[in-house]
Amino acid sequence: MKLTGKKELIEIIKKKIEEEGAISFKDFMDIALYYPDLGYYTSDKEKIGGFGDFFTSSEVDKAFGQLLAKQFAEIFYKINPKEKFQIVEIGAGKGYLAYDILQTLKTEYNEIYQKSEYILIEKSKYHIKTQKELLKDFEIAKWVESLESFEDNSIEGVIFSNELFDAFSVHIVEKQNNILYEIYISLKDDEVIEIKKEASKKIIDYFKELNVELPEGIRAEVNLIAKDFIQLIGRKLKKGFVITIDYGYPSNELYKEYRPRGTILCYHKHKYSENFYQNVGLQDITSHVNFSALKYFGEKAGLNFVAFTDQAHFLINLGIMDIIAQLQENDDYKSYERINRLKTLVLPGGMGEKFKILIQAKNVADIDLESVKILPYLSQRYKI
Ligand SMILES: C[S@@+](CC[C@H](N)C(=O)[O-])C[C@H]1O[C@@H](n2cnc3c(N)ncnc32)[C@H](O)[C@@H]1O
Repeated sequence: MKLTGKKELIEIIKKKIEEEGAISFKDFMDIALYYPDLGYYTSDKEKIGGFGDFFTSSEVDKAFGQLLAKQFAEIFYKINPKEKFQIVEIGAGKGYLAYDILQTLKTEYNEIYQKSEYILIEKSKYHIKTQKELLKDFEIAKWVESLESFEDNSIEGVIFSNELFDAFSVHIVEKQNNILYEIYISLKDDEVIEIKKEASKKIIDYFKELNVELPEGIRAEVNLIAKDFIQLIGRKLKKGFVITIDYGYPSNELYKEYRPRGTILCYHKHKYSENFYQNVGLQDITSHVNFSALKYFGEKAGLNFVAFTDQAHFLINLGIMDIIAQLQENDDYKSYERINRLKTLVLPGGMGEKFKILIQAKNVADIDLESVKILPYLSQRYKI
């Protein structure tokens, strides 16, 4: 298959291969998604929503942000911050979720709003621009370049993300004859060829630490950025909660014979494919998150496990059914439309089940949260 997509990016990939030889799939994905100004996430291109390539829960309905604001209010009273209550959103995309959270805090929890700081950390300059425009009326919103700029043990509040970890560049591995290989790519007469090289010690140690034995013959992704990122979050948090919302599974469910090609997919104009080498820079590439890894590596950085749930249970515990009931009282088309959107957020087999929520905490005495009061039934495979 020929590399197609943005010419400048293709030239950059070709040059790298000419200079270095085969490059890892992870390096290819990094260029395709994050090469400065040209990558999928770093360029000026509509990505999320009807005119983009995929929808996120933030775009479906404002209730998602309203209920998260309610969750943050509960956290505020639990941790009773000495200084400002810090709400840190990482990878906020267009900023819609931040808008709904800030709007709710300002109107319904103004005491908390006045004592808070809403910090956005975003890698894409394009998204920072849209966020700044959208959030210009919220005086408590501010932008910080990266989590590294915080001192260790300094954040008091909540660090959260929606669909961040699935967007990190991943290594792809394959187990053959009991040997773990990593996928590299090279070019032959302009055609992409995949090459297998024995996996590095870092990758082998990752599976060893997680106590995972990959089934023979399958491919899987290794998200080493996620491993480092959750540890960074753990180091920076002084007191509070970490809420990670994304699609994914625990290890037991992720690495199965019935997922022989792993979970990595591309999204282009709302269609998914496994054509990673087409539309380079013009399509999203994403993989499911390993929540067992976030739990395990988070614990190593001081994050205690609180709960693992799905989006349906999370939102129902927070009161989405009350919002639906109120809307049912208004006998009009707009409310009917909103009810349908709200149902989308909690649909079994859809967003309600596909999206999971991992909650971790550090230095908090009382970790009981309303949002995880009733948990989904989890079979052994889903135990984190
Ligand atoms: C799939 S989008 C999700 C956007 C948003 N949270 C939503 O719900 O619509 C992933 C976002 O994470 C950002 N991102 C990726 N890596 C990042 C990093 N290391 N730090 C901050 N943002 C990052 C991307 O630029 C993009 O805006």
